[in-house]
This record gives sequence, structure tokens and C-alpha cells, in this order.
Amino acid sequence: MKTYSIALLPGDGIGNPVTEAAWDVLQATAKTSGFSLEGTAFPWSCDFYKQTGAMMPTDGIETLSRFDAILLGAVGWPAEVPDSVSLHGLLLPIRKAFTQYANIRPHRLLPGVSGPLKSGAFDILCIRENTEGEYSGAGGRIHQGTADEVAVETSIFTRKGVERILRFAFEQARMRRGKLASVTKSNAQKYSMVFWDEITRRLAAEYPDVEVTSYHIDAMAARMVMAPESLDVVVASNLFGDILTDLGAAIQGGLGFAASANINPDRSAPSMFEPVHGSAPDIAHLGIANPIAAIWSGAMMLEHLGETPAAARMVSAIEATTKAGIGIIPGRDKTETIARAVLERLL
Ligand code: NAD
Ligand code: IPM
Ligand code: MN
Repeated sequence: MKTYSIALLPGDGIGNPVTEAAWDVLQATAKTSGFSLEGTAFPWSCDFYKQTGAMMPTDGIETLSRFDAILLGAVGWPAEVPDSVSLHGLLLPIRKAFTQYANIRPHRLLPGVSGPLKSGAFDILCIRENTEGEYSGAGGRIHQGTADEVAVETSIFTRKGVERILRFAFEQARMRRGKLASVTKSNAQKYSMVFWDEITRRLAAEYPDVEVTSYHIDAMAARMVMAPESLDVVVASNLFGDILTDLGAAIQGGLGFAASANINPDRSAPSMFEPVHGSAPDIAHLGIANPIAAIWSGAMMLEHLGETPAAARMVSAIEATTKAGIGIIPGRDKTETIARAVLERLL
């Protein structure tokens, strides 16, 4: 029997219960699908930082590199560890080190979920550049603490980086409804975003079957609320994609429904699967975190591993759960109740 080795990084706050729920559903799915999943859990988190002074051991990346995939919950506990330390110590280095340059985030309404919009007839796939851009980490502060202080945060866009994410997005559009929206802010940002637009135009000639339109990020934010049904695949830089995908989560009913996959398309290193949401300190001790985003992310992991029918079974079980009205009202159902309902609906 085929066995996949999975690294489990539950992380902080609700990352723990939602990863446990996703893992239970993944195990049950594997059991009846003819493969097995061998999980190894790592306690890397803000608690780990408080004990050891680091978010993960120095050989953490090397350790993770030996797995077939990584399932992550959420990282961050800002009351105790600054986000700039925790995220730059765990989540962001993994995305970068494993060249997980495509962050895929689907936004559609699950059956029974009523989002805030009048019409629920949208099905958007956001593709977020995941390794460079505004998240380059380059920058600094001078004259710190003085009236003359200056802080610089440099966005880095490379031809290689922009081209590969755009190609990835064109390919995705080709496999869906053939429409690609490329998002920039080239009216205000005259180097990186003009560069991105130029590459988009050049690549468009190679994909004549894909209808590509460029939008400014501000107009796209409005479009996702006013006319989301007009969108198919949306591609954006790291920061713009981050913001648009919380907006995408909102129109699909909330962060508890938004799944994501950090993909290394070349398969030269493991990919990582995690919900879009964070550790939700405001509800972390209430037992009401919605595990659907994490379970759906688990399904995306099976899809990436090539277990397509098993992934589809997981998504069907999620859909049957929400259709039955379970997990659709934020805060009403317990995490365990929702997870159990999905397990009971696995066919
Ligand atoms: P958040 O996503 O944790 O929470 C935003 C709001 O959504 C909160 O009101 C929360 O209760 C709600 N929410 C989120 N997930 C939910 C779920 N599954 N079910 C029900 N409600 C849910 O964002 P934040 O508050 O800005 O961040 C908290 C911490 O998480 C910070 O340290 C932040 O940096 C970190 N963070 C990590 C990730 C990640 O690891 N991928 C993502 C986003 C934020
Ligand atoms: C996400 C998160 C992260 C990001 C944060 C926690 C660094 O918001 O995965 O969307 O911005 O990528
Ligand atoms: Mn985000």
C-alpha cells in the first residue's frame, strides 16, 4: 500500500483543533481509499519559541524536506511573541525555502452557506505569488527612535518570479473557464507593477485561448464584492494576494471556509497546505473554530499527492455537512461537532 509521510505543524491557537480535525478526516479518507498517511507532528509554535528562543530548530527546514507534504494550522500569538518574529521564523521561511511560489486559494460558497453578497454565483481561484514581492524581507530602519527616522521596506520582483507565477495562473485558467484577471497597481507603482503588466501582456500571446484582463488592486477589491461572478482565475502579488484572499474568504461566508495550498509546482520540495485564517486568539479557547477550511486544505493536499478521487470524497463530505446546516453559522457549532459531521458523511 502506498504510504505518504506528512509533517504536521498545528502551530498556535486554533491551528491546533482545526489541524486535528483535518487529520482525523484525512485518516478516515485514506483508510477507505487504499493508501495510508503517516503523520509526524512538530510542536513548532510561539510556545516552542518561548521555551527554546526559536520558532523551529536550526535544521527544521532540512527535517521538513524529507516529507511528502506539510499540513499546517496557523502561526502567531501576538500577545506573547511579535508577529514579525513568529511568522518570519516559521511560516514564511518554509514557503520560501521550498519554493512554494504558487499559493492557491479557492473562493466559492459551499452549499447552505449564505455569504454577505446578494448573489452566491461565483467561483474564483486566487493565485497568489508566495515567495517574493512585498514579502522579500529586504529593508531597514535608520535613525531609529528619532524624529528623523526612516523605514524602508523593499519589494523585490524578479523576472523569473513574476513569469513563473503568471504562467502558473495562465495554465490554471486554461483548465477552468479560460479567464484570467491579473492584478497590479501600475498606475501608482511605476517599476514593479509596470514590469508585471508587461510580462502579463507578453505571456498573453502564448495563451491565445485565455482571455486576460489587467485590473488595479483597488478596482479588483470592489469587483470581488460587486461582480464576483465575472471572475475566474485571479493572480496577484504576495501582499495584494494576501489581502484579496481575506476578502475572498469574507464573500464565501468567513475565514472558517477559506482553504489554501502553497504549491511547489516543480515538486522539487514538499508543498504545504493550510487554511487562510490565522490562530484566532479571540476565539481560541472557546472550542468553536470552524475546521472546514483546514479540512478542505487537507483535500487539496490529497489532490496534490495525486489521490484525486479521495480528495473529491473529502470535498463531497464537506459539502454534505454544510448542506445539512452544520458549521454554517459562525460560533454556533463546536469544532468537534463539525468534524464529526464531516466524518459521518464520508462515503
Ligand atoms: P485570524 O485569521 O486569526 O482571525 C481573524 C478573525 O476571523 C477573528 O475574528 C477570528 O476569530 C476569525 N476566524 C479565523 N479563523 C476562524 C475559524 N476557523 N473559525 C471561526 N472564526 C475564525 O487573523 P488575525 O486575528 O489577524 O491573526 C491572529 C494571528 O494569526 C496573528 O498572529 C497573525 O499574524 C496570525 N496569522 C497567521 C496565519 C497563518 O499562519 N497562515 C494567517 C493569518 C494570520
Ligand atoms: C496568510 C497570512 C500570512 C501572510 C501572514 C500570517 C504572514 O496572512 O497566509 O494569508 O500574509 O501570508
Ligand atoms: Mn492572510
